[in-house]
Amino acid sequence: MSSPGKIGIIGSGLIGRSWSMLFAGAGFQVTIFDIEPKQIQGALADIETQLNSLQKEGLLRGTLSAAQQFSLIKGSTELAETVKNAVLVQECVPENLELKRKVWKEIDENVGPNTILSSSTSTFVPSLFSENLKNRKNFIVSHPVNPPYYVPLVEIVPAPWTDPSVTKKTREIMMLIGQSPIVLNKEINGFVLNRLQYALLNEVLNLVNDDIVNVEDIDKVMADGLGWRYAFLGPLETTHLNAEGFINYTERYGEKIYNLCKDEMKPAIEWKGPLIKKIAQQLEADVPLEELQKRRNWRDLCLTKLSLLKKELLKLK
Ligand SMILES: NC(=O)c1ccc[n+]([C@@H]2O[C@H](COP(=O)([O-])OP(=O)(O)OC[C@H]3O[C@@H](n4cnc5c(N)ncnc54)[C@H](O)[C@@H]3O)[C@@H](O)[C@H]2O)c1
Ligand SMILES: *[C@@H]1O[C@H](CO)[C@@H](O)[C@H](O)[C@H]1NC(C)=O
Repeated sequence: MSSPGKIGIIGSGLIGRSWSMLFAGAGFQVTIFDIEPKQIQGALADIETQLNSLQKEGLLRGTLSAAQQFSLIKGSTELAETVKNAVLVQECVPENLELKRKVWKEIDENVGPNTILSSSTSTFVPSLFSENLKNRKNFIVSHPVNPPYYVPLVEIVPAPWTDPSVTKKTREIMMLIGQSPIVLNKEINGFVLNRLQYALLNEVLNLVNDDIVNVEDIDKVMADGLGWRYAFLGPLETTHLNAEGFINYTERYGEKIYNLCKDEMKPAIEWKGPLIKKIAQQLEADVPLEELQKRRNWRDLCLTKLSLLKKELLKLK
């Protein structure tokens, strides 16, 4: 198999490691840079362990073996070497605006005009830290969802000055590595995933605050209710199927939904005060803080099993 090219990863934490594995899975040559050389060694060791265990479980992506994928990944202590001749540079440094500005200035000074400059930022719109780059037409946000190896969505967010061909190419690369990209037509705070998540969280906090339901039960509404559909369908297709099509759904429920949203939806609630303690107490009764990692491992197991099931079910669509 001929290599689809080189990828530069900047920052070798949780997200940098996941991207490295995803790109190597599709045959890209991956170079990982970190400001902390000892982080790079740790990342390489961790990636090798993860790839081997994915192979053992039959969950490895792509057609190459774990050893072949690992051989495509190397570390570097030179930023310039890492970004040189890359098809795409994926920045994964901590979520700090000043740091991102500094790191991107340095990447910009060391990169050629044909490299896609992609940030993993979860909360900053791209115009906040790309305006002054000389290669700003190549700049884009590719926001993954944790853990990216199992949750395939990537939100692609262009800045006002991003060349449309860069947006298109980024989307193609994300599909090539087996992720599920969506493209925002323009930047907006929260992108799309977090706007949906925050709207939901605001209503959830209000319902607990107003003593309508307790913590355990509100989580059940998603985990045993809405979430079952949403693991396979989006909210719009859900409505389309829940009536005789979307127009029929609109005629049946549209006015009721509009009135409830207009008159009864809760305003923004502050994330402080006794409400926070009340929620934390109930959550910790079920999952004490010492057991968070154990529960995360279980969550990741659920996601791996779900991703296998989804692969099977998509064939029946
Ligand atoms: N963790 C998540 O759930 C998640 C999900 C989606 C997006 N993101 C985004 O991905 C980015 C990285 O997050 P993470 O969780 O991997 O962070 P992390 O703290 O695990 O890793 C950051 C890495 O960057 C390195 N670093 C710090 N300064 C650097 C520099 N100047 N040059 C090169 N490397 C440097 C650190 O040594 C560390 O290895 C953030 O922008 C975050 O918002 C995170
Ligand atoms: C929606 O579809 C049903 C079933 O076909 C039909 O009876 C109904 O009249 C349609 N419209 C509304 C507003 O329910």
